[in-house]
Amino acid sequence: MDTPRICDYEGSDYHTRFWQGQGRDYEDLAERAALRRLMPASGDTLIEIGAGFGRLADEYRGYQQVVLFDYSRSLLREAQAHLGPDPRFIYVAGSWYQMPFVSGLFQTITQVRTIHHAADVPALFAELARIARPGGKYILEFANKHNLKAILRYLLRRQRWSPFTPDPVEFVEMNFDFHPAWIQQQLRQAGFSPGPMRTVSHFRLALLKKLLPTNLLVALDRLAQPTGRWWQLSPSVFVPAQHPSRSQVAAPGLFFACPHCRVSLVTVGQGSLTCPGCDCRWGFSDGLYDFKEPLPTPA
Ligand SMILES: C[S@@+](CC[C@H](N)C(=O)[O-])C[C@H]1O[C@@H](n2cnc3c(N)ncnc32)[C@H](O)[C@@H]1O
Repeated sequence: MDTPRICDYEGSDYHTRFWQGQGRDYEDLAERAALRRLMPASGDTLIEIGAGFGRLADEYRGYQQVVLFDYSRSLLREAQAHLGPDPRFIYVAGSWYQMPFVSGLFQTITQVRTIHHAADVPALFAELARIARPGGKYILEFANKHNLKAILRYLLRRQRWSPFTPDPVEFVEMNFDFHPAWIQQQLRQAGFSPGPMRTVSHFRLALLKKLLPTNLLVALDRLAQPTGRWWQLSPSVFVPAQHPSRSQVAAPGLFFACPHCRVSLVTVGQGSLTCPGCDCRWGFSDGLYDFKEPLPTPA
């Protein structure tokens, strides 16, 4: 199987470079408002896909088990350091194209600010549909190619790609913007049932952010978010989707599965999980499960 390209954040300074003191409180708060509105506030199992350094982790405190899943071990270590010892949080490194979980496990799935790194959205959605438990919800945020700025730039001939065509645009290597209709279509093809969208970050303009207090901008954004049901012109869009009804429910007690052969992993050895199906050994150290690549076989 050809593995799709992956945007690797290992060792990245994403937290300090993009968020810390970078004037993005408005975006952070507007995203949290949308998430709170769309996500069931409590439940048993939740997974965040591409959780990074755990920016949104405190939104999940109503859940019994929260998996922070990301390709970057170093960002997950940051999350771990920031959240401290809390048995609800489980840190898992791996790729969203080969998720190390049994089918039908997660009641709630969230994914914010990460799908723009997905070179193969159908493959990602197929994996999410597999680990989704029927009756649950997937809350996805995506970067919207059909946003007002892109439309104006295109009409003024300052941008070559069209915001109106449905196909994703890779505007910088491994950074994609998506059309809302295309995302809905892909979700349906994977078996999800998308609901009314919420548009977010309507006022993402440096001048507005400078002139108006953040709380006022966030309040205005919250008022504007429900208009996403009818039209989507903001740079960020949230779509809630019901999990596929045809997916199965995980058997009680089962959790991890080998990302290579999908057999359930039941034994935790010394610092590793051994797959009874293909003998791969997967690492576990200092509270982090590592499914990026198997441990070398002992000589
Ligand atoms: C822009 S960051 C967003 C982090 C977090 N969601 C937030 O909003 O703060 C994108 C994240 O997606 C993760 N990512 C990219 N490709 C991935 C893949 N194939 N599997 C798992 N995570 C991936 C990166 O490691 C990175 O942490």
